[in-house]
Amino acid sequence: MTDKTRKILVTSGLPYVNGSPHMGHLVEYLQSDIWVRFQKLRGNDCIYVCASDAHGTPIMLKARELGISPEELTTRVTKEFLEVFAAFGVEFDNYHTTHSAENEALTVEMFEALRANGDIVTKTIEQAFDEKEGMFLPDRFVRGTCPRCKSADQYGDSCEVCGATYTPTDLIDPVSVLSGTTPIKRESEHYFFKLSEYVDRLRDWMHEATLDKNILAKLEEWFEAGLKDWDISRDAPYFGFKIPGTEDKYFYVWLDAPIGYVSSFKHLCDRRDELNFDEYWRPGYDTEVYHFIGKDIMYFHTLFWPAVLQGAGFRTPTSVYAHGFLTVNGQKMSKSRGTFIMARTYLDNLNPSYLRYYYAAKLGPTIEDIDLNLGDFRARVNSDLVGKFVNIASRCAGFISKRFDGKLADALPEPALFAEVTNASETIAGHFERREYSKAMRLIMALADQANRYIDEQKPWVMIKDEIRLDEVQAVCTQGLNMFRSLMIYLAPVIPAVAEEARTFLAEDSWDWDSACKPLLGKTIKPFKPLLTRIEQKQVDDMVAQSSDTTKEPESVAEDNNISIDDFLKLDLRIARIEKAEPVEGADKLLALTLDVGDSTRNVFAGIKEAYEPDELVGKHVIVVANLAPRKMRFGVSEGMVLAAGPGGKDIFLLSPDDGAAAGMRVK
Ligand code: 2FM
Ligand code: ZN
Repeated sequence: MTDKTRKILVTSGLPYVNGSPHMGHLVEYLQSDIWVRFQKLRGNDCIYVCASDAHGTPIMLKARELGISPEELTTRVTKEFLEVFAAFGVEFDNYHTTHSAENEALTVEMFEALRANGDIVTKTIEQAFDEKEGMFLPDRFVRGTCPRCKSADQYGDSCEVCGATYTPTDLIDPVSVLSGTTPIKRESEHYFFKLSEYVDRLRDWMHEATLDKNILAKLEEWFEAGLKDWDISRDAPYFGFKIPGTEDKYFYVWLDAPIGYVSSFKHLCDRRDELNFDEYWRPGYDTEVYHFIGKDIMYFHTLFWPAVLQGAGFRTPTSVYAHGFLTVNGQKMSKSRGTFIMARTYLDNLNPSYLRYYYAAKLGPTIEDIDLNLGDFRARVNSDLVGKFVNIASRCAGFISKRFDGKLADALPEPALFAEVTNASETIAGHFERREYSKAMRLIMALADQANRYIDEQKPWVMIKDEIRLDEVQAVCTQGLNMFRSLMIYLAPVIPAVAEEARTFLAEDSWDWDSACKPLLGKTIKPFKPLLTRIEQKQVDDMVAQSSDTTKEPESVAEDNNISIDDFLKLDLRIARIEKAEPVEGADKLLALTLDVGDSTRNVFAGIKEAYEPDELVGKHVIVVANLAPRKMRFGVSEGMVLAAGPGGKDIFLLSPDDGAAAGMRVK
């Protein structure tokens, strides 16, 4: 461990107050909380701040929809987040809101400093305006046809089909999401921050900041594309801070949101005398500032934010640590699949320590996405945390409390084996420091395996039967418990609630990282209570069932190819009898089928020629989608679709019900 105490300030992204916390949010807060707890355990002065991100159009509209003020919405949602943070052990030194006096003062201060530098310019721009609602529309509130590929119903900023980016005024047939009316184009004066002036300074910063190589690559791309001036103002109505000297202009939420990091810290300084604001936020000090964020907001944190800080006379972040998105069972979270799991639903079913461990076991320092595979989650937690780690203590503790009045032996019988654990201390610390949590977890579990092997070999449950070997039992169990204890200290940043209970059981007042290297000997410990139990399949199933919302959604249709039950119910599936089957001239794969669907006959072209002889099909029953819109093909019109499955070619199988079925019957 280094002698010098580092002064570190850590932040996590500020959550918007228009949604409740879910499993995706927790990746970031758990990743940063583990890092902060690790720093504190190492003896560093580490401060962790966050806040609610309260401003912007979506929040203003959400509050309007609920019939409450944006302030009231902020209070409600902040309470929800704080409860979840407390339950998951995410421990901030301060949690504030961006709609605060401190944040307004700092935002105005930074803006005025930038203006004094000549970094702020005004320009008149044309934007989509909803006349019915009387407001300018953010890009996402306008939908229309993509000007490039002509796909319908695309957002105002980019096309999900062809990837084109544009402005809402470029859309063909634009429609306001709010009123359904056609927006008009209206001019308005906006304030811009001259980001392009900062290219050289940003390049210097990005090399000092030891950013992950994926972030650096992204930055290079952005520099290559050229940095444009950034629009930092919005017109009324808007929930935010008014720009000084204007009547109806507000600062854009993304200007004052990161300033929320500074103002939350300021709010803490006002309550903690020993903290010196300048030491953390003005240039020239050796304090460290780290922002943990999601990969989707890198542009804001690695370009706009360091440039604003530099221009306004503040320090820049030491580094920005971005993580990837969360998938559940390998896919985007989905309400219809029951994998859009709210933090509250998780807590109703499962112990937070499980998730803290699982995320740690999956997390590395890159922007790669992480997957919460629910089967693997249960298996891994049961095998690692319960089966390996906690098991060391449960195998040894009973003997110590029942046979030795809770007293540990005065010496370790296998100091060399204990040294295996203590020698790993700095390697594990290095993994935590670099956010290589998965590596740290692997090493800790490998050491837990060693401890279990030792107990297996010694068999204290056999020794105990022999009165003259009692001292040996005490020594073996003292060895086992000490290995458990050191590993528990390494795991304390990850599962702090378990560590607290273990420390109480071991009757110790406090731990720091180095406590792991000093064995606990000759002391009396408390009776052992099981620290963690196995996850039962039912707990996971219940959580998924409680997360399933079959009435709504799926917003994710486009991304994951699923159709909703409503889409499925639109299909008119019927049993049809094949009256006639013939090859189609000039088509290698098609057969022309004449189908009796009960109330009519249909001509359908089916791509099954390689798999079936026409003659064998006549008289067969198949399932047909009877309400498919007729399709004009080269050979004629196809009036439906017969259902078949298989990889194709010769391996294609018509779905055929029992022969007795009557044509025209609906398939349920
Ligand atoms: O993307 C988001 O959820 C934002 N509310 C994060 C803001 S982070 C910081 F800049 F305030
Ligand atoms: Zn397109």
